[in-house]
Amino acid sequence: METRNITVPQTAAYLQELYCQKDPLLAELRQKSGEITPALLLPEAEALLHQLLLLQQPRRILEIGTAAGYSAACFARWLPQAQITTIEALPELCTAAEKTLSGLGFSDRTCVLEGDARQVLAGEAVRGKAPFDFIFIDAAKSHYAEFWNLCLPLMARGCLIVSDNVLFKGLTASADFEAEGKKKRKHRTIARRLRTYLTYLTQQEGLLTSVLAAGDGLAITIVAEPEGVLPCNTLQPQTEKEDIHG
Ligand SMILES: C[S@@+](CC[C@H](N)C(=O)[O-])C[C@H]1O[C@@H](n2cnc3c(N)ncnc32)[C@H](O)[C@@H]1O
Repeated sequence: METRNITVPQTAAYLQELYCQKDPLLAELRQKSGEITPALLLPEAEALLHQLLLLQQPRRILEIGTAAGYSAACFARWLPQAQITTIEALPELCTAAEKTLSGLGFSDRTCVLEGDARQVLAGEAVRGKAPFDFIFIDAAKSHYAEFWNLCLPLMARGCLIVSDNVLFKGLTASADFEAEGKKKRKHRTIARRLRTYLTYLTQQEGLLTSVLAAGDGLAITIVAEPEGVLPCNTLQPQTEKEDIHG
């Protein structure tokens, strides 16, 4: 069979090296944010998001998964007119993100909301900022379908949604990549849920989705008429306890 796999380790390593940050402010911020938490946007994902945001020019952005505020700072830096609402479960990261964003002078255009996005998304603080024309989902991977369903009523017409880490180091595509030991069961659950989520994104009427093998896997979805789209309702009941980082 012809081999069409572009994600061989050499390609991944080459791409990691190829991207360079031309903005010194963001280069320094990436380094500082990485010292607070290693969880931050991969350079390939960053480059793609930058292009998408410049093309779409959204006015209202929603992010699920702030971490230390690196990606939120990128959005604010690239789009001087945009209002950014970002949700983070861990209080210490909310504090770090707020400090970063105010230090860069973005406080008036950014709002960090603390709490589990599954609760926060249904609350008044987010609804008051909606509708959003760009949504970035970058939090616990096992809850993506729940985040999506809660985001549906918050989407503007033509909303662009980017879901990060959907290929989960290859596990979504094949059990061959599965870790051994304690994490195996948790990883299986996440991979199964991500498959359900990607099936929904690619097959549901009214959604137009590309799944890219870039970074840790990115799903890019356009929702022309959110009110006509059915929610992702094929989730299995949660049977296993998963921590917030899922
Ligand atoms: C990959 S990091 C986000 C990185 C960030 N977007 C960036 O590029 O700078 C994921 C973050 O989501 C947060 N998180 C995970 N599950 C969450 C949930 N259910 N609600 C809110 N935040 C959550 C984690 O605490 C973590 O800080």
